[in-house]
Amino acid sequence: MSIMSKLLGQCRKPMGWLGRAAAWGINRGHSEVIDWGLGHTLIGEDDKILDVGCGGGETVHKLARIAEEGHVYGIDFSKASVAVSRRRNRQLMQAGRIHIQRGSVCCLPFSDGGFDLVTAVETHYFWPDLVSDLQEIRRVLKLGGKLPVIGEAYEWGWLCGIGTRPLQSGDGPGSKSG
Ligand SMILES: C[S@@+](CC[C@H](N)C(=O)[O-])C[C@H]1O[C@@H](n2cnc3c(N)ncnc32)[C@H](O)[C@@H]1O
Repeated sequence: MSIMSKLLGQCRKPMGWLGRAAAWGINRGHSEVIDWGLGHTLIGEDDKILDVGCGGGETVHKLARIAEEGHVYGIDFSKASVAVSRRRNRQLMQAGRIHIQRGSVCCLPFSDGGFDLVTAVETHYFWPDLVSDLQEIRRVLKLGGKLPVIGEAYEWGWLCGIGTRPLQSGDGPGSKSG
């Protein structure tokens, strides 16, 4: 297996000590795109929010700061991601405002219609069955709830996975990178 596939594997499902290091790195690396995405999302101060594929917990952390009276749940199928996410959010977990658990998007351990908002940052392209996974998310959303799916545009080719950049205003169907 090439170094590149190993690194991408750690993004898809961080594992072991390398995975925990990757999750901390992803927290730093994604901070800007998370701010951008959440800046385009209407978030109520007492919203009940779920972040799917929460990784090292950076999005959960930022969401809890915006929804000051709300509750934020994070879920991720990687043990390493869950460990880092809990560490990152220790204080707000103790305060009972953040809840992090292990699980997959395919079968969310939540009852129907409970969330005002579900976020997914840089994770949906790893999901095994996008259509049924989105249906599962819809199940846990309240009627009228929101689902921002946040990700950067990837330039495929030899730079695959490294050469990322935020979306530009000219991007879109018909453009070279759309
Ligand atoms: C590149 S990281 C992004 C983490 C975080 N959302 C962020 O932007 O900082 C992708 C995360 O999605 C998680 N993930 C991938 N497939 C998943 C699935 N089917 N269910 C739950 N989590 C998943 C991985 O374990 C990993 O922590």
